[in-house]
Amino acid sequence: MEKYLIRGGRVIDPANGIDAVKDLLIVDGKIADIGENLTAGDAEAIDASGKVVAPGFIDMHCHLRDPGLEYKEDIISGTRAAARGGFTGVCCMPNTKPVNDCAAVTRYILEKAETKGSGVHVYPVGAISKGLEGKEMAEIGRMKEAGIIAISDDGKPVSNSNLLRLAMQYADHFGVFIMSHSEDKNLVGDGVMNEGFMSTKLGLPGITRAAEEVMIARDILVAEAEGKRIHICHISTKGGVQLVREAKARGVRVTAETTPHYIGATDEWCADYDGNTRVNPPLREESDRLACIAGLVDGTLDAIATDHAPHHEDEKKVEFHLAASGFSGFETAFCISNTELVRSGAMSLSDLVKLMSANPARLLGVPGGKLGVGDAADLVVLDPDRKVVVDAKKFVSKGKNTPFDGRTYYGAVCITMVGGRVIDREQA
Ligand code: DOR
Ligand code: ZN
Ligand code: ZN
Repeated sequence: MEKYLIRGGRVIDPANGIDAVKDLLIVDGKIADIGENLTAGDAEAIDASGKVVAPGFIDMHCHLRDPGLEYKEDIISGTRAAARGGFTGVCCMPNTKPVNDCAAVTRYILEKAETKGSGVHVYPVGAISKGLEGKEMAEIGRMKEAGIIAISDDGKPVSNSNLLRLAMQYADHFGVFIMSHSEDKNLVGDGVMNEGFMSTKLGLPGITRAAEEVMIARDILVAEAEGKRIHICHISTKGGVQLVREAKARGVRVTAETTPHYIGATDEWCADYDGNTRVNPPLREESDRLACIAGLVDGTLDAIATDHAPHHEDEKKVEFHLAASGFSGFETAFCISNTELVRSGAMSLSDLVKLMSANPARLLGVPGGKLGVGDAADLVVLDPDRKVVVDAKKFVSKGKNTPFDGRTYYGAVCITMVGGRVIDREQA
């Protein structure tokens, strides 16, 4: 096992209340010492002066597309892209082919991640319903035994409220929780983008915010009635943030995430009918974007997740209404979030590390998210002030689909380390 001394970086570890220049000694995959002027001995020195050392990011929500949709992404390319983005752990959603609705698929994912992945921890999310059909419950207990961390029908809502209620009870019994893709399909209708000025101008059918908010409210009320936990995925609207804020205030066990795209882009970006701006829920308006930021700032929203949703070029370079929904998100998550939240003055870098690392680790109950002595050396070295021009062609992910291509942000990921092993180091 390699030994490393990461020297002179600004160590940001919100879980332990640390934000100071320190050295970090890594031995046997763990953090062996943190302090000033540590001596390297036989350890390889990594100069982190002028840089930030933080716990590795943990993504509560991504799509690795494996099994079955490897033309979009697979566990090899997906975990490499995650490492490039500074992630040391990712939760992958079950809308694969076949769906991850039984232990065999869960085991396949874990085994492939273990033997062929980049080293990033992969935490599979199992389906709530068999085949994501919203009818019959999946084998939650067996999948939990096999290693799922949560359940979700992501990509689709659980429209049957009683199925959601039963799944909540089962999930609680098995020590997993529900991650809800909150969407009322009837209200969405044939909508393809946010309903508002832009959809009218472009002549595209709109999706009312109510399609998201009605289901967030439903999810919250069912969780409240049951006294169970619920996590709301990818909140995109001002009203959605407010529903979670009010529910938290009255003690509902609700947590929520938003994504870099809802704090970094709006429906104005759809102006050229570019399929690369299509996502579900859709990009909203400036007031929604600001409300999502405010929700992250005041703790209403617990985490930033990528909803990394890679697609093939042929599925995106088509008429807007035919384009697949979703963005390739791992490799832009930090620079967008850092630019929109930290450089904008909305929050400190330590707060951002909380949202991308410490909080998701806590919600998921997985290791990581902190840099104490004895903790696994799952960390990132960041250069938060470096200018980055997004170049989708250079993505490690097979998915080059992003509306952020060509735009300028600040914040580079220099090194990603998992268990004391460097799994990604930027090209010099
Ligand atoms: O944009 C999206 N893409 N939203 C989803 O809910 C699913 C995801 C996908 O799997 O492509
Ligand atoms: Zn979703
Ligand atoms: Zn998703």
